[in-house]
Amino acid sequence: MKLLTWTLVLSQLVNAQQGIQEEEDALYSRAIKLMSESPLIDTHIDLPQIIRGLGTPLDVIPQLASKLPGHVDIPRMREGHLGGAFFTVWAPCANQVLNQEYGADFLETTEGLRDSLEVLDIIKNMIKQHPEHMQAAFSSKEIRAAFANGKIASLIGMEGTHFLGNSLSTVRLYAEMGVKYLTLTHTCHSSFAASNGFGPPLESSNHGPGLTEFGKELVQELNRLGVMIDLSHTSDQTMRDAIDLSLAPVIWTHAGARAIQNHPRNVPDDILRLIGDGPGQNPGIILSVFFPPFIGPSPETANVSGVADHIEHIASIVGRDHVGIASDFDGMYSSVIGLEDASKYPNLIVELLRRGWNDTEINNVMGENLMRVMDEVDKVKEDMKDKIPSTAIWEKRTDLPADWGGPDLVYLPYDVQDVVNSRPKHDEL
Ligand SMILES: *[C@@H]1O[C@H](CO)[C@@H](O)[C@H](O)[C@H]1NC(C)=O
Ligand SMILES: *[C@@H]1O[C@H](CO)[C@@H](O)[C@H](O)[C@H]1NC(C)=O
Repeated sequence: MKLLTWTLVLSQLVNAQQGIQEEEDALYSRAIKLMSESPLIDTHIDLPQIIRGLGTPLDVIPQLASKLPGHVDIPRMREGHLGGAFFTVWAPCANQVLNQEYGADFLETTEGLRDSLEVLDIIKNMIKQHPEHMQAAFSSKEIRAAFANGKIASLIGMEGTHFLGNSLSTVRLYAEMGVKYLTLTHTCHSSFAASNGFGPPLESSNHGPGLTEFGKELVQELNRLGVMIDLSHTSDQTMRDAIDLSLAPVIWTHAGARAIQNHPRNVPDDILRLIGDGPGQNPGIILSVFFPPFIGPSPETANVSGVADHIEHIASIVGRDHVGIASDFDGMYSSVIGLEDASKYPNLIVELLRRGWNDTEINNVMGENLMRVMDEVDKVKEDMKDKIPSTAIWEKRTDLPADWGGPDLVYLPYDVQDVVNSRPKHDEL
């Protein structure tokens, strides 16, 4: 009798276990089906910095087709059914990483501009050298075309303004070169905006808690250029200022919810409440990051279900039409349990399906919400096409107008010399 009971219990347990496994397999298949019908677009992959770190700028690119250290290579992106990716142009905050100073007015240390150009060159060559897997895209239409063609739609984002040489000219040219978003700061302040640092409190900027006057010009210029404004990394006040000013939706390309994990890199509820479909709200998008310390509860235990908690909390405030997915792969020492590298994206879709997200909502969080934002940003660009470029310069620059006349101004026509001679010199100002 006893033995019989135990056998029954055991067989019921085995059946239940099999049932769970079958349910899991069914969810996984459903996730893969959805991912093959509609692209999952990751808005933040730091692969270019890994390529640059493993060798001189272009020599590691061929290895991408096999196995690359880090979180991302082509086989793993394919295994993870990644539909599209923003590869990040980034150069470090030199004052935090290279022990170089920017100075009180950000006028020192200019190698970042060269370095960011080299990183952009890496991305362009990476796409060119792997045409069987990657296809450049600059709009939602081109993302759909690449996806339909069986390629990973490959886009370019730029993370930070500290390497832009305090100049709007560089921003305009980067936009022409295909940069589709600009993060208003990385972990350091710039002449454009204040940052939230990397966790430990950051000494405040000499130039205010949010956007500078120059940064306000930048926001309007980005609207005009059709470049998305990324508020990840920025100070809370920079977020508020940019939302206040931007005519286009804003985005967070890799952030979480501060109410779930109290970290300055996550977005607080009062700022989330500024985003949505309601009157006066910005119709932007928050794309959730996988970096363990931002997810919690501890870096060691953070897992895929925690990422889903962040997405659901954010969605509970902004709506499921304003959320998305952004790993930060290759920009962090490790990722959360269950999303360890680019082969694991389906696990997050499974987790959302398990929580009752329907097919439309899954397509939306994977990429449709982002593509809607891209369309709206492009529409603002179209509306502003007759607006001339901003003539603003960083007020602290001392090199403009240019002092390029040479000895006795011999390089300048006489009438230009007259103008230059009648102008007060910088040290007289
Ligand atoms: C994920 O993390 C949460 C919070 O630590 C925990 O409760 C849950 O059991 C974890 N899930 C898995 C599948 O490990
Ligand atoms: C999915 O849920 C949304 C609400 O978020 C609803 O509008 C939509 O009709 C649902 N779609 C399906 C296919 O059930």
